[in-house]
Amino acid sequence: MKLKSSLLILVLSTLAVAQDKVVGGPYAVNVSGRSATIGWLVETGQVKAGADQDKLDRAAPVLRSEKVTFTGLPPGQMIHYDVLNGRKEGKGFFRTPPPAGTEATFEALVFGDTRTRHDMHRKVIEAILKFADPHLTIHTGDLVADGADTAQWPIFFDVEGDLLRRAAFFPVLGNHERNNYKYYDFFEVNSPYYSLDWGQVHFTFLNTDLGNFSPSTAERERFWEDQKRWLIDDLTRAQKAQFRVVVMHHPPFTGVGRRQGGGGNVWARTLVPVFEQFKVHFVFTGHDHNYQRHEFGGVQYIVTGGGGAPLYPVDSPIEGLTRTMISTEHFVRLLISPGMAKVQAVGIDGTVHDTFEVEAK
Ligand SMILES: [Fe+2]
Repeated sequence: MKLKSSLLILVLSTLAVAQDKVVGGPYAVNVSGRSATIGWLVETGQVKAGADQDKLDRAAPVLRSEKVTFTGLPPGQMIHYDVLNGRKEGKGFFRTPPPAGTEATFEALVFGDTRTRHDMHRKVIEAILKFADPHLTIHTGDLVADGADTAQWPIFFDVEGDLLRRAAFFPVLGNHERNNYKYYDFFEVNSPYYSLDWGQVHFTFLNTDLGNFSPSTAERERFWEDQKRWLIDDLTRAQKAQFRVVVMHHPPFTGVGRRQGGGGNVWARTLVPVFEQFKVHFVFTGHDHNYQRHEFGGVQYIVTGGGGAPLYPVDSPIEGLTRTMISTEHFVRLLISPGMAKVQAVGIDGTVHDTFEVEAK
């Protein structure tokens, strides 16, 4: 009898393990000059729900985030990893950043708003893999339509899988992440604002999604002032970098008429004097599902929200500021070389919709 119980327990525990399946990743996140976190997502079961107890028509996976952090990594190197003991789908690689101030030649990929139209999101990823060669990948927010819904994250990771396996991933919060803990957990984001140096470029990542931060106006204002103080300190320390790049979700300037004067955009616009004062070269945003470039105070403001979400019209160019706008799915290549940065906005068929160069200042 005792032996039978033991056998039963063994069978049950084996079944529990057998149910686990990898539904996201692997991916490299929180990559700095010396350390990196490899993450992947495991589905441990499914939960069903519905209004009729005999017809539970909704299902959502139970997800568990797995992570390991490697420290003491060499800077400026390719690092390969394997999270599934040799199985092809468990292998990937990423690069660690060259030391701050080192003149390097590399490509950063920038794109965003990948929610909603998964077929189009997949086409964008396929085009990235065909036409770009990123050393790091930057997402401008709205990864999924609702960050609280566990059913949506495996779809995101399935579509992005081949890209995530080949470059470190750096996201910012969009309003559709709902400031949900999963965003922080899955991508090992320890603060909603953070920065890193990649050779001669300083990247700063901000949170403009005040709407989901807190229902309290006082708390939102306190967060914004804290982040702004941190930003000024961060950019002050980054003045020796050849290029300063800021990434956030809401655009301070937009050519989408109905979005001019909107909440997150108004918060974002309060940072414009800071960007000018601290000689920021590029501000990459999303939120509007198109490509836009505006120039103000020596700063290039680029909206890249063409990752799959339904396209928005570009109907209201801003006089004197707007350089180009196009409503199409796309991604942006930021090509860095010593003293020079080149930007290309590329469509899913490889068409270059915008290209320009900026010198270090
Ligand atoms: Fe958004």
